[in-house]
Amino acid sequence: MKDQTGGSDEIGTVLISEDEIQDKIKALARRITDDYRGRDLVLVGVLKGAFMLMSDLARMIDLPLEFDFMAVSSYGSATKTSGVVRILKDLDNEITGRNVLVVEDIIDSGLTLSYLLKYLGARRPETMRVCALLRKKGIQQVDIDVAYEGFEIPPRFVIGYGLDFEQRHRHLPYVALLNKEWNQG
Ligand code: IMP
Ligand code: MG
Repeated sequence: MKDQTGGSDEIGTVLISEDEIQDKIKALARRITDDYRGRDLVLVGVLKGAFMLMSDLARMIDLPLEFDFMAVSSYGSATKTSGVVRILKDLDNEITGRNVLVVEDIIDSGLTLSYLLKYLGARRPETMRVCALLRKKGIQQVDIDVAYEGFEIPPRFVIGYGLDFEQRHRHLPYVALLNKEWNQG
């Protein structure tokens, strides 16, 4: 199988393989299916990073399901969030009284998600939980309860499976370290 790097030297060591990701998502989807049986569920994907997870996760959930998407951009440098979040695209539908599962790619400082949860919580969903594929270990600046967590990773900059560096590498089916001198450990 091709590694899909297209020869890019920005792609470093693979941290989580495609198989590991898919197995984990299957397990998360099974739990979600059990937990939400008999209730209506709305998946809210946070663009762009969550598009891969959203698509794979949804196909493994065995429930009636609706989708919505938010697009946010956090001010900051290419690799660090400032905590100030700009809403680029809001939800299309009301979530008041609904069971909402927010689907995120990665929790780094946690500031983006924390802002988003407050913003969405103001619309009074019946329940709201978080599913995130990755969480960087030991660097959250805010406490976020992640009900469905994929993997804990070291606090390094990663790419692939939705995650970008300057908009590149989102299409990789695995998660790898970004190969840059400042990311060498
Ligand atoms: P936070 O607000 O610091 O938790 O960062 C949230 C957003 O920053 C994530 O949703 C990602 O879009 C982006 N981000 C954080 N860490 C990484 C990374 O290692 N690679 C790519 N994007 C990241
Ligand atoms: Mg993101």
